[in-house]
Amino acid sequence: MCGIVGYVGGERTLGVLMGGLKRLEYRGYDSAGVAVLDPDGALGVRKKSGKLQVLADELAAHPIRDGATGIGHTRWATHGGPTDRNAHPQLGDDGRLALIHNGIIENFAELKQELLDRGAVFTSDTDSEVAALLVGEQYRETGDLTEALRRVVGRLHGAFTLLVVHSDAPGVVVGARRNSPLVIGLGEGENFLGSDVAAFVEHTRRAAEIGQDQIVTITADAVVVTDFDGVVVPMKEFDIAWDASAAEKGGWSSFMAKEISEEPEAVAKTLMGRVVDGRVLLPELDALGEDVLAGIDRITIIACGTAAYAGLVGKYAIEKWTRVPVEVALSHEFRYSDPILDGRTLVVSISQSGETMDTLMAVKYAGEQGAKTLSICNTQGSTIPRESDGVVYTHAGPEVAVASTKAFVAQITALYLFGLHLATVRGTLDDAGLAAQLAELQAVPGKLATVLENGPEIRQLARWMTDTQSVLFLGRHVGYPIALEGALKLKELAYIHAEGFAAGELKHGPIALIEPGQVVFVIVPSPRDAGGLQKKVLSNIQEIKARGARVIAIVEAGDVSVLPFVDEAIRIPLAAPLFEPLLAVAPLHIFGMELAAAKGLDVDQPRNLAKSVTVE
Ligand code: M6R
Repeated sequence: MCGIVGYVGGERTLGVLMGGLKRLEYRGYDSAGVAVLDPDGALGVRKKSGKLQVLADELAAHPIRDGATGIGHTRWATHGGPTDRNAHPQLGDDGRLALIHNGIIENFAELKQELLDRGAVFTSDTDSEVAALLVGEQYRETGDLTEALRRVVGRLHGAFTLLVVHSDAPGVVVGARRNSPLVIGLGEGENFLGSDVAAFVEHTRRAAEIGQDQIVTITADAVVVTDFDGVVVPMKEFDIAWDASAAEKGGWSSFMAKEISEEPEAVAKTLMGRVVDGRVLLPELDALGEDVLAGIDRITIIACGTAAYAGLVGKYAIEKWTRVPVEVALSHEFRYSDPILDGRTLVVSISQSGETMDTLMAVKYAGEQGAKTLSICNTQGSTIPRESDGVVYTHAGPEVAVASTKAFVAQITALYLFGLHLATVRGTLDDAGLAAQLAELQAVPGKLATVLENGPEIRQLARWMTDTQSVLFLGRHVGYPIALEGALKLKELAYIHAEGFAAGELKHGPIALIEPGQVVFVIVPSPRDAGGLQKKVLSNIQEIKARGARVIAIVEAGDVSVLPFVDEAIRIPLAAPLFEPLLAVAPLHIFGMELAAAKGLDVDQPRNLAKSVTVE
């Protein structure tokens, strides 16, 4: 949840660290800090609670000397509140060592007691300070920073990425990781470490992965990766597929506004090169092993939050096209439910960040139980794809705003590609059927672009709702997960009570919430839906209208049947029912963002949240 950056190279460390932290701030933003070794080997440390700008102001008011080695951290608090003293770096070896940490050290209480028994003095409430003091002790014994860190990581339980510098070891940053992210940036005469590639993409697009339970030592000219036993292991290099400008606001008022505007492109790029001559081309699936797709008898999708709602949409399509049963489980519930898994189960994880700890643990569990694992992920070099048998990358580009938008439509697109490929392998969709679905899918980017033209109208709607206390969202079939997503966006962005319901469930209880003036968004199924769901949803609308609800409908262009019963209608282009979610969600993303903005809230960094949730 925290953002971590490390650098060794020229004497421009402060700039590199602060630039990296700016790009990582989405990971956590309750405090930030840096430690830089100056040319005389003195350690300059500044850390402040609050957003990164507070640290920047502190550095301006109380500068430290720049140098060629340093580490920086932006925090999402776990142990200890967001105060200056709990901000990272934490110090050891009488202030000569600085350490930053992402994750949780589960056995910190017993290690802390051990240190207290030896007379250690603690200056923070964090679990991380335990690691700083322990590495400091080991450094005094060994005089070798890599060895000191190696000795300590063997004693830590939980999840962690740690970076350390020591004033006796200029030009060296050492990092370790277990179940928490860390990637290497490879430069010319300089090297970088970061929680993700955004930390250093403006300096280099060459990167390398670090595996679980590995330690990396960087200097200006060398990078050495070893396992926790000290055995050198090879690095897996890759080129970063986007450049720094992709992670800039580019004139938009917020990253979220920019990312919603990129939804059509996110779908188009995820499709690019994967539909050839009327067939789906996903060579990535070969990694699962021969005949696996032909032999599976069930699919379990695991994910959290918005990614789980993408999974729910995917379930309807995959089951329809392949007739393979699909269940969707929240990752954090999955492995505690004693799930039924075997070699014929395919577990598909969905994660934008590729680092969500709940999903990572669920993937590992599924693999241990003998299931095949496939990851749908947006972040190269991240952990979940590494731990999976195969990966289909979404190509949404970097998503910086904490609330997920463009990644959602890219995830549905990837699931649909997978479902259509599986249907081909299993022979459950004939050529004409496949061609029809692919044509629908390929038409989505263009249609989505027209949906975004509704932006000003939705902004108006949002502006008169700034005092609204509660909003409900109703949908059916593939519209149901969209209702859930609309409600989540409103909660996390505008801090308004919001609930998404399956429209058919309304009469079983939630209708008691309806009172005069209650705003209800309804995702109205197409009148061409073969199951006749539209009529049923129209009945639901009448039921709530009769009780005074104010209804805002998301409705197919040209469908006039709902107009007499609703207060507002937001139009989306015609699409086959399974493809409507890809169009219906954008208005809800815009609405959540605009309502938050109208309330004067920070839409990119909502309170209490972090973009990648790397604790369980
Ligand atoms: O990185 P992931 O896709 O694994 O993240 C999953 C959820 O944490 C994420 O979708 C979260 O719900 C967002 N706040 C939604 O906007």
